[in-house]
Amino acid sequence: MAQDFRSARFWAADMMQTALFPGAKAVDATMGNGRDTLWLCQRVGPEGHVYAFDVQPEAVERTRLRLKSEGLSERVTLFCRGHQHMADAVPEPVDAVMFNLGWLPGAVHAVTTRMETTLIAVDAALGLLKPQGLLTVCVYPGHDEGARELRALTEWAERLDPARYDALLKCYMNQPNDPPRMIAVKKKA
Ligand SMILES: C[S@@+](CC[C@H](N)C(=O)[O-])C[C@H]1O[C@@H](n2cnc3c(N)ncnc32)[C@H](O)[C@@H]1O
Repeated sequence: MAQDFRSARFWAADMMQTALFPGAKAVDATMGNGRDTLWLCQRVGPEGHVYAFDVQPEAVERTRLRLKSEGLSERVTLFCRGHQHMADAVPEPVDAVMFNLGWLPGAVHAVTTRMETTLIAVDAALGLLKPQGLLTVCVYPGHDEGARELRALTEWAERLDPARYDALLKCYMNQPNDPPRMIAVKKKA
């Protein structure tokens, strides 16, 4: 039977499996409802740690409650702060950084990620990554700011030094309404 190609979130999680292991350190750059933060916490295990960011107190609270109900609060540090500050906030090199751009599901669309701060944050993420570490970004070009983010991130990734990074863009080629894209960057050394 033909494989279901699925979507950007799945592609990011699939790639992340290779970068995560018990004891790994990871960043969720956009915690939202905390689904990705929880997923990362489950994969890094009791010896690992996850640092998660969101600018909305509502997102931080939803994530805090989700992790508490799963008994995983000890594995995470939650920052009610923009991901563009992660270089100052995260105290150690990490194995993986995930971005899921856009707005908080079920909340006002006015608070969305923005191209200018997203670019600062992905640069900061590369600085934090250990060699062989992985960055994934899910981008939603179906709305104006998402389209700006995709253009800027594509230019950014195309300029990365190929001796130091592998950059990949995964997307549907024939689907309507600009479906989400997944960008992945691996730090080689
Ligand atoms: C698509 S949601 C993330 C979904 C989330 N990963 C989950 O599993 O539920 C995007 C989130 O990015 C947050 N955001 C917007 N600007 C941000 C910034 N500068 N730094 C960190 N988070 C930001 C929004 O508040 C929103 O909650």
